[in-house]
Amino acid sequence: MLVRIEPGEVRIGMFIQAFEGSWFDHPFWRSRFVVETDEEVLRIKTASIRALVIDRSRSRVPIPSGDAAEPGPDQPGPAKPAPPKKPRRAPRQTATSIDQAVPAQDRPRARRGYAAECRRAGRLANKSRDAVAELFESARLGRAIEAKRMVPLAQAIAASIDRDSKALVNLVRLKAKDEYTYLHSVAVCALMINFARHLKLDDDIVESLGVAGLLHDVGKIGVAEAILAKPGTLSEQERHSVQHHPIKGYRLLAQCKDVPELALEVCLRHHEKLDGTGYPDGFAGDMISIYARMGAICDVYDAITSDRPYKGAWTPCEALTQMQGWHGHFDPRLLEQFADSLGLYPIGTLVQLSNGELAIVMGSTGANGEDVAVRTFFDTHTLDDIAPQDRIIAPCAEHPRIIGRDNPDFWRLGDWPSLRARVMAAD
Ligand SMILES: [Fe+2]
Repeated sequence: MLVRIEPGEVRIGMFIQAFEGSWFDHPFWRSRFVVETDEEVLRIKTASIRALVIDRSRSRVPIPSGDAAEPGPDQPGPAKPAPPKKPRRAPRQTATSIDQAVPAQDRPRARRGYAAECRRAGRLANKSRDAVAELFESARLGRAIEAKRMVPLAQAIAASIDRDSKALVNLVRLKAKDEYTYLHSVAVCALMINFARHLKLDDDIVESLGVAGLLHDVGKIGVAEAILAKPGTLSEQERHSVQHHPIKGYRLLAQCKDVPELALEVCLRHHEKLDGTGYPDGFAGDMISIYARMGAICDVYDAITSDRPYKGAWTPCEALTQMQGWHGHFDPRLLEQFADSLGLYPIGTLVQLSNGELAIVMGSTGANGEDVAVRTFFDTHTLDDIAPQDRIIAPCAEHPRIIGRDNPDFWRLGDWPSLRARVMAAD
């Protein structure tokens, strides 16, 4: 029998048959599963979910009769026996005890409007992807590029980011194989705008950087799809073809009178590296503008967090951790600012949460790797150590959320590398 419950009533052992509403509203890639952990309970409670449908016969715990839910067209057949309970580590603190111990204003809650903005952002991403595809096709056919058509798209993307900085950015990271090139352009546009807003750049520069994101890879129309998707090492000729795309793109865009200067700059220089080992010209250091450096970071971040034919996607946290280790590639201070702009941090970073707790970033988790796993260990209100506790911070979380990175010296945490190692190793 199916029963409808409120998110606050969910408990370990319940078999979730469905979430009410769009899949955008819940943080799981599947809707049918047994709730196994306190983290899953918390994620359900903090997501913008109106209600859940529970299958009593497949749950391991007694379910009150509540409101009977209408069986859906794909209701499962006879109930299977409940799966054996997996041995689990004893939780440090259960969701129930958190609810009882924490005042109402400090309990996990989702940000208002996130789910609605995700739906709006989905429509905007599709529209933008189609417009970029059309522009690339025009360029491929030798027609003039109407760059000014990108301006309202960049403005709409900026408006979406102003309404909620994470909705569109998270959405465009998930790409189907056949839409990668075009959606990558939309993703770089969104990342550039989000980054530029974080750096408090002027509105006209933000808009130009958005247009730059949409246009930066237009030179790829000169590279065969088979080369772009090739899993193995490229031949000399193939590498030359790939490394020519910034010049090809620059030449295409330079013929159009409406292309912002910044977009030309980002198009030509987004593969240069600070140590001079990039292409097309091996520019180094100050020869590379801040805008081109921003473009390089956004371009690589989106590429490595997307599924590609030759490699699986890294989670945002893994990607930032790796990028931080590629010395000489990116501007390290800008890379740090970029991480701040996304509210994402490399593993081992000290961060402060909105409830005043200090925590260490442990990694990414969740179906799409967009939830941040942190381990709290210190309360800045009482200035006391607290027993390490793992928390999952979803993109939609309003509270507790990550406010930003913090400085261990400010809180006089002593030998920070040793303390960090102890907290991260805590059982
Ligand atoms: Fe590129």
